[in-house]
Amino acid sequence: MKSILAKDTYTVTTHLVLPENTNTLGNLMGGQLLNWLDIASAIAAHRHCRRVVVTAAVNNVSFQHPIKLGDLVIIEAKVSRAFSSSMEVFMDIFVEHSSTGAKIKCNEAIYTFVAVDQLGNPIQVPDLIPETEEEKKRFEGALRRRQLRLILAGKMKPEEATELKALFAAQNQ
Ligand SMILES: CC(C)(COP(=O)(O)OP(=O)(O)OC[C@H]1O[C@@H](n2cnc3c(N)ncnc32)[C@H](O)[C@@H]1OP(=O)(O)O)[C@@H](O)C(=O)NCCC(=O)NCCS
Repeated sequence: MKSILAKDTYTVTTHLVLPENTNTLGNLMGGQLLNWLDIASAIAAHRHCRRVVVTAAVNNVSFQHPIKLGDLVIIEAKVSRAFSSSMEVFMDIFVEHSSTGAKIKCNEAIYTFVAVDQLGNPIQVPDLIPETEEEKKRFEGALRRRQLRLILAGKMKPEEATELKALFAAQNQ
């Protein structure tokens, strides 16, 4: 199976915050942002494997700044690492203010997808090749993040999480 370059999974979506997306303070609802993130990351994962993908886990989303009615939300998604059937997708989230045009990065988010066949059974995906420094950094960290989420999901024993244990051991020295 031919490996895929991280840049070939790059996906950008842009959304205008409309009244039906906001709360009574005129701020974007968190659930709406989660939905936009789900779609952008699903497209990136699909570009990696060209198969049906399902969301296995939503990881590491926090809402650091309110996003206002009329703002533009720009989501940049890229697969950060592929495993057997699963892919981690890393997203950078920017807000472009309607009046000034200023674009600021407001958050990062990570989702995990699994490629499945028509019966919903997990199937093998290609390896990912990181090229830039940032892609390589996110690729390396993905193994530890995978171990952490599988432990929390009860799918891995803590003693099997070799890279995660090595990280804690290094920090205790
Ligand atoms: C995701 C799903 C396909 C995994 O199926 P499963 O039978 O648990 O499969 P396995 O335990 O063999 O795991 C398959 C892969 O999923 C990954 N996975 C399973 N649970 C996970 C979790 N909680 N977090 C991250 N990855 C997970 C495994 O690590 C494995 O990845 P790998 O092949 O790269 O090693 C299955 O749970 C599913 O279909 N879930 C519903 C998906 C869905 O409908 N999403 C939308 C929700 S509205």
